[in-house]
Amino acid sequence: MDVVRINGGRALSGTITVSGAKNASLPMLAATLLTAETCTLRNVPDLSDVRFMIEILSHHGALVEKAAPGVWRVTAKEIQPRTPYELVRKMRASICLLGALVGRLRTADIALPGGCVIGPRPIDLHLKGLARLGCVISHKNGYVSVDASRAHGTNVFMGGRQGSTVTGTANLLMAAVLTPGLTRIDSAACEPEIVDLCVMLQKMGARIDGVGSPVLTIEGVASLHGCDHTVVPDRIEAGTYLLAGVLSEGDVTVRGARTEHLGAFLDKLEEAGVVVENAGPDTLRVHGGFHRCRPVDIITLPHPGFATDLQAQFSVLLAHIPGISLITERIYPNRFMHVSELQRMGADIAIEGATAIIKGGMRLSGAPVMASDLRASAALILAGLAASGETWVQRVYHLDRGYEQFDTRLAALGADIVRLDSSEMPNDGADD
Ligand code: EPU
Repeated sequence: MDVVRINGGRALSGTITVSGAKNASLPMLAATLLTAETCTLRNVPDLSDVRFMIEILSHHGALVEKAAPGVWRVTAKEIQPRTPYELVRKMRASICLLGALVGRLRTADIALPGGCVIGPRPIDLHLKGLARLGCVISHKNGYVSVDASRAHGTNVFMGGRQGSTVTGTANLLMAAVLTPGLTRIDSAACEPEIVDLCVMLQKMGARIDGVGSPVLTIEGVASLHGCDHTVVPDRIEAGTYLLAGVLSEGDVTVRGARTEHLGAFLDKLEEAGVVVENAGPDTLRVHGGFHRCRPVDIITLPHPGFATDLQAQFSVLLAHIPGISLITERIYPNRFMHVSELQRMGADIAIEGATAIIKGGMRLSGAPVMASDLRASAALILAGLAASGETWVQRVYHLDRGYEQFDTRLAALGADIVRLDSSEMPNDGADD
């Protein structure tokens, strides 16, 4: 089992280019099943989640070829509709196959994903949307079966208790593009990854209006064709590297940071007093650290609100800023697993319901810590960059699901960070 060791206190410096977005690549790979023709996806990040999605596409019968680094060609001439539990349980995001299978085959038989460490993760809205289209849905033995033979376009409201659903919107879109009639999705997710999926689907011949807005209108077509599409840069990765620059009190330029995708995040950085400069097209530079910064309050919300996927990483910055900051989680009210690990490094954070109360201004000190999920692992590494002494982050396989070579790329910016086998930890502290 790998661990990451960070010796904190090194100012990062240099330029980094972010990869393609994980959360766009996964539904786009699923969308390649919507046609028998070849789809080429470029700028696909090299992540364990992506490799896993490719395995699932092959399981369904698609021919998947790596044409070059980051370039995948998928040809799904004949596919089968069943996604077994062994595959779905390994990656919850495999549920985004549901809409693609329904769109292409008019039937799907997919194992229900369970919850995960960040919360219960239901799919009731996905199923409600498909049922509104006239799909017949049945549950048996942990699987959901969908029969879309009589589906027809109609109006669907996709909002839930936490607002819109990203993968639910992706699923309904992929089903609706090949469903006869006009489908109108109200309260659709507006995340850049959904916009990018819409653009890919349009290249495949789908008719979608209102892209980027909460109201999507889809006119079903009889078939789709192949496409060539470049995945949008990963806004969460961009935000994470910007925070690494600030927390290490370095000077870091991030290429592929689209300000239009990072609005709420940049607004909070600016409110805190962080210096962020526009350094060219899709390029942002941070320098000057956090010493003169002020506390801020954050509420995570669906896009264009503050992204839940940047919440854990931002909390590390707030733990360093003197004064009281609040973070309220409106997407995953329990997504605070990183907090107890940050407390072990000396952070003063209390959780009240869905709110983290951060009494900032501490200098953290390195400690062995345990990553619980993808964004928590990034947060702990950021904490290690700023802390005094050595931080050992265990269970970094979470990190590899969503950040391409995070540790090596931070090392290239000057971080003292190295990946080791857990047996190399002092007192062999890994519990895995
Ligand atoms: N929800 C429901 N019913 C549903 C679907 C969702 O109540 O049928 C609730 C969820 O429980 C949650 C909220 O609605 O409280 C939003 O969930 P959403 O469906 O939007 O999340 P998702 O599509 O499962 C994607 C990303 C997550 C990211 C969320 C929110 C992918 C593969 N995953 O998940 O990414 O946190 O949107 O932006 O796109 C990550 O990358 O670390 C990650 C967890």
